[in-house]
Amino acid sequence: METIDWLWILHPALAVVLIYPLIGMVVRLGIQARQRRVDRAKLPPTTGRDHADLGQWLSAGVVLVVLVALTVVIVTKQPAEGFTGGGARALQLLLVLVGTVVSLLALWQVKAKGYRLVFALLTWAGVLGLGAQPEVWRLSDNPLSAEFWQSHYWAGVGVVGLMIFSLAARPEILKDLRWRRLHLTASALAAVLFLVQGITGSRDLLEIPLSWQKPTIFGCDSVKRVCPPFAPADPAPPVGS
Ligand code: HEM
Ligand code: HEM
Repeated sequence: METIDWLWILHPALAVVLIYPLIGMVVRLGIQARQRRVDRAKLPPTTGRDHADLGQWLSAGVVLVVLVALTVVIVTKQPAEGFTGGGARALQLLLVLVGTVVSLLALWQVKAKGYRLVFALLTWAGVLGLGAQPEVWRLSDNPLSAEFWQSHYWAGVGVVGLMIFSLAARPEILKDLRWRRLHLTASALAAVLFLVQGITGSRDLLEIPLSWQKPTIFGCDSVKRVCPPFAPADPAPPVGS
């Protein structure tokens, strides 16, 4: 494993170690909050607040983990000196990255409805903007193709949008039954997408070769499923030379 390979497993490792355990806790507390409210189950009154507090960390964590993936993919696609668009484009993309993180922090802090809407949209737009770069691998951009629905990228940015929505609408979900129902629908979809991400992410991890293997593996024909034969090894030098 070289440094570049470690960079590539940063995102999957963070997802497995931080995000998925958090998902388990948030879902469990969400179900308990509902059981307390609807079935009058005897559960601690803190379930709802704990769910939303951990939900906030989950939303922010998902955005950051996706930003890590996008940054790694864009930065490592070609050597620094051959970066498409040169320093100017690199600076532009860096500004989008910093702007997205600042919007997320602002979304966490602000209270007024208008500000929450603006920072939520800015955060998602930042993720989509970085994701739209040609360096980012997307199975398909056509929703009518089967590949689109198997794409780790599209389900990923979709679930980011749903998490940002819940983070931005926290006060409304707490106060208003219609918003809570909307949150339930959005969260059920998010739970399915998280499941899909676990599967497509593991698939992608299996398909991405280590950096020293790339020159050979990328010579393979993925449609015909054949690889070029290895070049014959250098013949051993004659004995005594
Ligand atoms: C996979 C993610 C999530 C799932 C499955 C989920 C599920 C739920 C469920 C089942 C409820 C109870 C609804 C009811 O009482 O009818 C709930 C309530 C709530 N959720 Fe989530 N949720 C998720 C993420 C989030 C996030 C990211 C936030 C943002 C901070 C959030 C904020 C809230 C709030 C404020 C409530 C109301 C709590 C209360 O009644 O005290 N949730 N959620
Ligand atoms: C929280 C759930 C997850 C979300 C929202 C998510 C989202 C994303 C996004 C948007 C990308 C960039 C587009 C791309 O290169 O395909 C990406 C890359 C990638 N994801 Fe995930 N992902 C999640 C979980 C996982 C898991 C559990 C794994 C594997 C165990 C994984 C493996 C990968 C791999 C190998 C890449 C390629 C780039 C890299 O490693 O940095 N992802 N992910």
